[in-house]
Amino acid sequence: MATATEARPALQRSLQTKMLIDGQWRDSLSGKTFETINPATEEVIARVAEGDAADIDLAVQAARKAFDSGPWRSMDARDRGKLLAKLADLIERDIDALAELETLDNGKPLNEARNGDLPLVVDCLRYYAGWADKIHGKTIPVRGHYFSYSKPEPVGVAGQIIPWNFPMLMVAWKWGPALAAGCTIVMKPAEQTPLTCLKMGELAMEAGFPEGVINIVPGFGPTAGAALVEHPGVDKIAFTGSTEIGKLIMRNASHTLKRVTLELGGKSPNIVFADADLEKAVDGAMLGLYLNQGQCCCAGSRLFVEESVYDQMVDRMAERSLNRRLGDPFDPNTEQGPQVDREQFEKILGYIEKGKQQGARCVTGGERFGDKGYFIKPTVFADVKDDMAIATDEIFGPVMQVLKFKDIDEVVRRANTTDYGLAAAVWTRDITKAHAIADRVRAGTVWVNCYDVFDAAAPFGGFKASGIGRELGEKALDNYLEYKTVTIALD
Ligand code: NAI
Ligand code: MG
Repeated sequence: MATATEARPALQRSLQTKMLIDGQWRDSLSGKTFETINPATEEVIARVAEGDAADIDLAVQAARKAFDSGPWRSMDARDRGKLLAKLADLIERDIDALAELETLDNGKPLNEARNGDLPLVVDCLRYYAGWADKIHGKTIPVRGHYFSYSKPEPVGVAGQIIPWNFPMLMVAWKWGPALAAGCTIVMKPAEQTPLTCLKMGELAMEAGFPEGVINIVPGFGPTAGAALVEHPGVDKIAFTGSTEIGKLIMRNASHTLKRVTLELGGKSPNIVFADADLEKAVDGAMLGLYLNQGQCCCAGSRLFVEESVYDQMVDRMAERSLNRRLGDPFDPNTEQGPQVDREQFEKILGYIEKGKQQGARCVTGGERFGDKGYFIKPTVFADVKDDMAIATDEIFGPVMQVLKFKDIDEVVRRANTTDYGLAAAVWTRDITKAHAIADRVRAGTVWVNCYDVFDAAAPFGGFKASGIGRELGEKALDNYLEYKTVTIALD
């Protein structure tokens, strides 16, 4: 497979592997580095500076200084917006190289990185560039002779911890609203995929963000990540990742009463009624589950199908899954690349085994693909019961559970029988059913006759154990703002 970095010398030469602190690219204080791996070949791409508590402390000091006394604080909002727009322009300029780097480090098909993730990255930064000078307070009609108004102010230093499934997009979702609001940032990218985040740091420096406004410390969760969460100089933590670590972060942030927003896991129901356009429903179910090798927090991993079309749907899903093209993510025909790392690969294979043991019927896939790289065959389980592990737990891989239902009350009850509440979808030609599902399913996003439609303007986030707060849209600005009330006596 020609995915090795040696085949892409230009990419190899241009890698950024140091950490960004106070506008400088530096080694970790300990001198330690860690490997980042190409998941398609299991080869080492590069060694990256490994930050820990000491580096986090330096980065927080830089972000604090930039927030408390640097030029960022006094910069006109419109100029902050211009910097964000400039960053979007630079990403667009380098879009092909960035997409290649994302594919190399993460394993996602180049087509998706180039035509899916990257355009959303650019859009998101431009969208928040536009918000920078549109963050207003209100006048408040208080009793008595007073003039009272609210004044939104940046929350301060934002610690941002992101996962590996959409590395650059997660950077954009976090930086966009934080910078538009006027915060400064210490970001810890995922240990599996640090390279594009560091590249975005280079572009941010080129765009002209002042020193210390954006700091990036690569490293591991229990060391660098935990130090960021505990640091008294950090005002707010924004985290995307597992529900388990989300809970830990909330606990650990409580000592310093940091503001916390969390975007966590899911087990999203995708509901197909017999009256749906089944061609479209099949396309939607494929996209909803397999996009990004199934590594999506909103993956439609519980496919509920109405009884009368159940067998037909299972057959179609099996056939389409069998025909998916796996392989070299740099090949333009590839639809599915490897899982991100060995840990995820083994976790997913473990769930596939559990599904078989607990009596679900594996109609296609069910094993690894090839003998090198973390590839897993698209897998479809039929005759799945609600209490099987594959139906309750987030698998985060290309494993689809097809469940049978009889009527709308039953499917709503079962769809909601989960701790999660991130997304849901419904496929029907009946407008009443569509609205009823949208109304009754407890989830932060409901798609009707579509799936995975994302837009920078549309808020995204979870009910219940899927998180706290919303990303994207005007709503995400609130994650990075404090509201001050000012009251002035008029006599
Ligand atoms: P994770 O939640 O452990 O990692 C996400 C980020 O948190 C990484 O940057 C990691 O270094 C950091 N982190 C880990 N432990 C930390 C700690 N104690 N303090 C502060 N930061 C910490 O997720 P992981 O291990 O990569 O994947 C495990 C499972 O989580 C996946 O199989 C999947 O089910 C779920 N997941 C969900 C994502 C989502 O988009 N909601 C993204 C990635 C994983
Ligand atoms: Mg973990």
